[in-house]
Amino acid sequence: MAAVLRSNLRFFVPGDKSVSHRALLFGAMAEGTTRITGLLAAEDVGRTRTAIQQLGGEVWVDRSGGVNVKGGPWRDGGTIDCGNSGTTARLLLGALAGRAGATLIGDASLSRRPMRRVLDPLARMGARIGGAGDERDAARVTLPVSVDRAALRGIEWRAEVASAQVKSAILLAGLAAEGETAYLEPVATRDHTERMLRGMGASIRVEPVEDGEGRRIVVSASQLQAAEITVPGDISSAAFWFVAAAIHPGARVTIEGVGVNPTRTGVLDVLRRMGAGVIVVERGGIEPIADVTVVGAELRGTAIGGAEIPTLIDELPALAVAAAFAQGETVVQDAAELRVKESDRIAAVVAGLRAIGVDADARPDGFVVRGGGAVGGHVITEGDHRIAMAFSIAGLRVPVVVSETESIRTSYPGFLERLAQLSTG
Ligand code: S3P
Repeated sequence: MAAVLRSNLRFFVPGDKSVSHRALLFGAMAEGTTRITGLLAAEDVGRTRTAIQQLGGEVWVDRSGGVNVKGGPWRDGGTIDCGNSGTTARLLLGALAGRAGATLIGDASLSRRPMRRVLDPLARMGARIGGAGDERDAARVTLPVSVDRAALRGIEWRAEVASAQVKSAILLAGLAAEGETAYLEPVATRDHTERMLRGMGASIRVEPVEDGEGRRIVVSASQLQAAEITVPGDISSAAFWFVAAAIHPGARVTIEGVGVNPTRTGVLDVLRRMGAGVIVVERGGIEPIADVTVVGAELRGTAIGGAEIPTLIDELPALAVAAAFAQGETVVQDAAELRVKESDRIAAVVAGLRAIGVDADARPDGFVVRGGGAVGGHVITEGDHRIAMAFSIAGLRVPVVVSETESIRTSYPGFLERLAQLSTG
């Protein structure tokens, strides 16, 4: 028997992963002690924490649970293991280039993921980058990668892919470069870096670009200052519960204190278009937060693409599950980046949907789901936390077995316990 969602639930989700990485890393670069509340205690963020400790940052937890980071000049970090965490690896490459040396390694999944998108612009800035060990290879495009401290110069770089990680890496390098560093993104991606850098005293400005919805972000050499940082709940984690409510007509789930930065809220727009009720009660802050309620309904398929993609890129596995229980077709396009996430998420989502009886097809840059037909089955997660969580949510409607759940620890400790609490059967 598949479990059924209890209705009228209200709870918090753990801290935002993107904001947590940045709070630790920028804290380690800043003068003084940064205090972070609500930091995500998951494995990926633990990788960033260990990395900054290897680079000389001090980290301790105070009596009220706040995480403190004492920053300062960096020392060489030796070998830094980024595990499964792309954000740790890519942001660190940019931060290291003008500050200190280290060799970055990762697990099998991370070691397959593209790094050239960061290494090319950093090389243009004068970064000293090579493969690990003796065979330094400037053309190296995956981890392991070694960086040595170098004198950097500012550049103007136009985004080749819509990626907040690449943008962040270049801006962090720009803080240690001579002259201005400008990054142009034709499509806006999550702007946590820009917000936090401004809050920590960096010289940064954001200009609209004339053609289109993107922006031009310009930084120059700056010494960051410590700050008090509150990490909002992670909308990418909340998304699983939003979808759980959405696929149960009449069910109601409220997530309190969740981040609603407009560069992250595409999942709410899509669920609204599919027919779910969405209520957002917002409070202000550097990172806006809100209590967000989703009310389930008979969903209908929708089209997802274009500039909306970066605002929901990590939520597409969950939205694919919403599409599976909707009437009609859902088409996702312009999302080729899904192929280079923790797994090839286009392949993994389509295989998972088919495994539970749903008619779905992969496209080079997305997928098509024809709703209805889910009967349940055995889903291979490919070791990807978001595939494991998305199909666990499908298990609230039809019997689903996922091949593993260990991967969930990278982003959402407590997910399975919450799922068990929420379901009745
Ligand atoms: C992230 C950016 C996104 C996202 C990832 C976290 C970040 O990746 O998928 O989970 O914290 O900047 P890309 O920048 O590669 O799109």
